[in-house]
Amino acid sequence: MKVLLTSDQVRERVNELAAEIDMSYPIGRELHLVSVLRGGFMFLADLARTLEGPLTIDFVTVASYGRDTRSSGVVELSADIRSDLTDRDVLIVEDIVDTGRTLSFLLDTFREQHPRSLRTVSLLEKPSRRVADISIDYVGFRIEDQFVVGYGLDYAERFRHLSYVAVLDQDTEVERP
Ligand code: PRP
Repeated sequence: MKVLLTSDQVRERVNELAAEIDMSYPIGRELHLVSVLRGGFMFLADLARTLEGPLTIDFVTVASYGRDTRSSGVVELSADIRSDLTDRDVLIVEDIVDTGRTLSFLLDTFREQHPRSLRTVSLLEKPSRRVADISIDYVGFRIEDQFVVGYGLDYAERFRHLSYVAVLDQDTEVERP
């Protein structure tokens, strides 16, 4: 495993993103963060603690049919948000945008509830893998198409807890829990 982004680099960038986000909304405006489980949990936790404005938090789960199926376009909600998004300033918090299909689906779904604003932040983005035509409002790091783990991202549910982002070797063998 090779470290791609150290925990210091991640922390520094999360702080910068939080400052950028804080500055781009009117002072005192309450943000509604919606994080995509499971991978988004760590970024959400750090970002939420760094943002200075008032905020609320919710989670959504997207059905996982495996990467092959996902890349063919099948995206479904497996657990919907609890909150009403009408007239709220919604910020979707993702750990990584790959094909963009997940984010595209969530944007379409959330728009139906007529939020006041709907923006997106992703810690990582793989531009070379993009299929869906979406724009991400705030991006932490643009990375190459390599298999990354850590800081929420997993391989067979492992490595999510790492405070840094690493590239997994092709021959890493991890037993499925
Ligand atoms: C990852 C990530 C995004 C999605 C991005 O989730 O958290 O939600 O893939 O891929 P896309 O841009 O190609 O749609 P994953 O399916 O690995 O589930 P997890 O977060 O539970 O690990």
